[in-house]
Amino acid sequence: MPLDIKEKVVVVTGGASGIGEAMVRRFAADGAAAVIALDIDGAGAIAAGEAVGGVGMQLDVSNDDATAAVMSQIEGDFGRIDILCLNAGIATGGSVDQTNELWQKTWDVNVMSHVYATRYVLPGMLNRGEGYIVHTASAAGLLTNIGAAPYSVTKHAVVALAEWLSVTYGDRGIRVSALCPQFVDTPMLDAFAEDNAEMQSWVRSLALSADEVAACVAEGIALETFLILPHAQVAEYFSHKASDYDSWLSGMRKLRASMT
Ligand SMILES: NC(=O)c1ccc[n+]([C@@H]2O[C@H](COP(=O)([O-])OP(=O)(O)OC[C@H]3O[C@@H](n4cnc5c(N)ncnc54)[C@H](O)[C@@H]3O)[C@@H](O)[C@H]2O)c1
Repeated sequence: MPLDIKEKVVVVTGGASGIGEAMVRRFAADGAAAVIALDIDGAGAIAAGEAVGGVGMQLDVSNDDATAAVMSQIEGDFGRIDILCLNAGIATGGSVDQTNELWQKTWDVNVMSHVYATRYVLPGMLNRGEGYIVHTASAAGLLTNIGAAPYSVTKHAVVALAEWLSVTYGDRGIRVSALCPQFVDTPMLDAFAEDNAEMQSWVRSLALSADEVAACVAEGIALETFLILPHAQVAEYFSHKASDYDSWLSGMRKLRASMT
């Protein structure tokens, strides 16, 4: 039976800004029973949640204990978590010579946060025989992000985790999606475009609004689609990569060279 958002308690991490904030508004507009925005920016999370009649709370998603405490509080206050949108993330550029500290931080925020929250919420979902987890990865998690090794590697890991969860728990009522957009008009993209001035116009020409991406997420949940691809061309690139990896790599090298 298609999932009815109207009965659902929805949690969105990174809910204070960009795609997360748009998801908070979208789920509320679609009539979710409750929407809870979580963000390291506590004031932003409270503002985003309260703006739609929901709740906001401060959470650093890379902190395992804090995540357990916040998820426990939400389950206590709302009875359960039906839809968990793990969307908080950071965009770390650079190559393998990026500092160990930044590699670790990117790993903790972009990947381990998904492990921590899922580990806490999954048992309740399995007991009820239903639950939905949406992992915000990126097109960089299926393809790559030129100039950003930590971001690309961690986003691939997010897709791998989502895939593994879907295979392992799909038969027990757990639905999983991996959201893999290309460029989206958010503060994260503003920072990226500022650092990559030569790519500004290309990036902006491909960017969707956060609201458009949130609409794709709502549709993806309704259809229970594993890959949510707001940019249609990402499906084409991914298919090309799978069918001829070497040709895809060669094309990416040309693209990289044209950018430098
Ligand atoms: N903007 C894009 O072009 C784009 C493309 C593909 C994927 N994404 C992914 O979408 C997600 C949302 O990004 P966005 O573009 O909306 O960026 P954004 O910067 O507008 O929002 C990210 C939010 O995550 C929060 N956050 C960061 N670290 C956190 C932490 N440790 N704990 C809790 N919250 C934390 C930030 O405070 C911010 O509110 C990210 O995972 C990002 O990688 C973005």
